[in-house]
Amino acid sequence: MPDLDDTIHLDMLRAGRDEHPSQELYGLHWGDPATAPHLQFFAKKYIAPYLDPTVDAVEIGPGGGRWTQMLMGFRRLYAVDYHQELLDELARGIRSPRVTPVLNDGTTLPGIPDQSIEYVFSFGVFVHLERPIRDAYLREIRRVLSPTGVAVIQYGEKRKRRAAKNRGFAHNTAPEMRESIIDADLFIREENLTLLGHSNVVCFQRNELNYEQTPPGSLKRPGKGRVGRARKGTLTHQALTRPTSSVDRD
Ligand SMILES: C[S@@+](CC[C@H](N)C(=O)[O-])C[C@H]1O[C@@H](n2cnc3c(N)ncnc32)[C@H](O)[C@@H]1O
Repeated sequence: MPDLDDTIHLDMLRAGRDEHPSQELYGLHWGDPATAPHLQFFAKKYIAPYLDPTVDAVEIGPGGGRWTQMLMGFRRLYAVDYHQELLDELARGIRSPRVTPVLNDGTTLPGIPDQSIEYVFSFGVFVHLERPIRDAYLREIRRVLSPTGVAVIQYGEKRKRRAAKNRGFAHNTAPEMRESIIDADLFIREENLTLLGHSNVVCFQRNELNYEQTPPGSLKRPGKGRVGRARKGTLTHQALTRPTSSVDRD
């Protein structure tokens, strides 16, 4: 289980360059969001509805830009990474004035103003982070999210066989992640426990859901403070605070 001094991400980058020298963006060998059906579904559900050229977003751990390329629909994207070498790799693949690279200390979002962000995204990063680092990031995410902002985080689920066998994955499970999110004074909006083979997806926000204040018919763009309807099979914060057997089924 890696700590911040671990070279796992630099080692993976070098191996990726050796094994996939002609790859357009580093990381596509983990699955191309443009062609892999489960990642296409993920992008359609957890990225596309939030894109807005009038607001700013954050990506934590962009790597080579496999997902960054899908986040170009924001006014500004802060691409926050612990490794300069990975930020250099990102700049090689994604050349856009919309991207602001941020080198950090592995737990904070430096230079990003309080409550200025409508969307925070991270994929392939929280799977490697131990709880103290995850919890520090959750506090930072809360600091930068606007009252209408949303975060979408993919994290490892050690109860899934593929995660249990992966020694690069930190220990984490859906109940532990929920606890961390709630402890950080954030509100779970939705989670997906079944789409991904070794991990889960959780969406959360700064403020509590408040359906009473939202006139019917105005539930359009989730990131603008209009909360999406709870669809059949969708877990809402209310459902999660009273865990049911379906929440804990995997
Ligand atoms: C496995 S790669 C995933 C890259 C990309 N998100 C993807 O899915 O293709 C992990 C990325 O997160 C960065 N990273 C790892 N730990 C981090 C931390 N504590 N804070 C910020 N970035 C981190 C790595 O340098 C690398 O860019």
